Amino acid sequence: MILVTGGAGFIGSNFVLDWLAGSEEPVLNLDKLTYAGNLDTLASLKDDSRHVFVRGDIGDRELLAHLLTEHRPRAVINFAAESHVDRSISGPGEFIQTNVVGTFNLLEAVRGYWNDLKVADKQSFRFLHVSTDEVYGTLLPGDSPFTETHPYEPNSPYSASKAASDHSCAPGTIPTVCRY
Ligand SMILES: NC(=O)c1ccc[n+]([C@@H]2O[C@H](COP(=O)([O-])OP(=O)(O)OC[C@H]3O[C@@H](n4cnc5c(N)ncnc54)[C@H](O)[C@@H]3O)[C@@H](O)[C@H]2O)c1
Repeated sequence: MILVTGGAGFIGSNFVLDWLAGSEEPVLNLDKLTYAGNLDTLASLKDDSRHVFVRGDIGDRELLAHLLTEHRPRAVINFAAESHVDRSISGPGEFIQTNVVGTFNLLEAVRGYWNDLKVADKQSFRFLHVSTDEVYGTLLPGDSPFTETHPYEPNSPYSASKAASDHSCAPGTIPTVCRY
């Protein structure tokens, strides 16, 4: 079992469909169903027991602790985010709440679960956090493409909140469950 957050969104839903097209391993899909979530995208999985959908918030530590204990995933892939740049300029609060505080709460819940795993399960466990090229700022005509070593230069509430969540996930900040 893997836990996918934001699996009713644009990229997350396609990831879930693609995963289940190529694997028998079930997916626990946690999504708040904001304006951006659309369960119709996952209609083909309606009677598929490999897909377990839960409507909920990545910031809800109690729910997360319950789901992690019940389903015992071997990996977490965090797609859940407020993701629209223009919306972040007109209303940044939700971006801080989900992308910064929510990701932190998700990390803390997963760390609590990870701490109690057996050594071998700890080593193989993965937390994948999905970032965005927006954290590197803006390319000018003729600039080389960004690489992962480019300095962070966020220039919107969206990219600043994603940058903060990336740094929360950086190995060494919160123990070794984090990869992105
Ligand atoms: N779309 C892009 O072009 C793009 C590019 C680079 C990176 N990304 C990143 O990829 C990830 C997915 O992007 P997307 O385009 O699919 O986004 P999206 O806005 O389409 O979907 C986000 C999903 O997260 C859910 N969600 C929002 N807040 C939540 C919360 N607090 N708890 C649980 N679920 C919540 C929404 O309901 C929605 O289903 C994001 O992290 C985004 O920053 C997107």
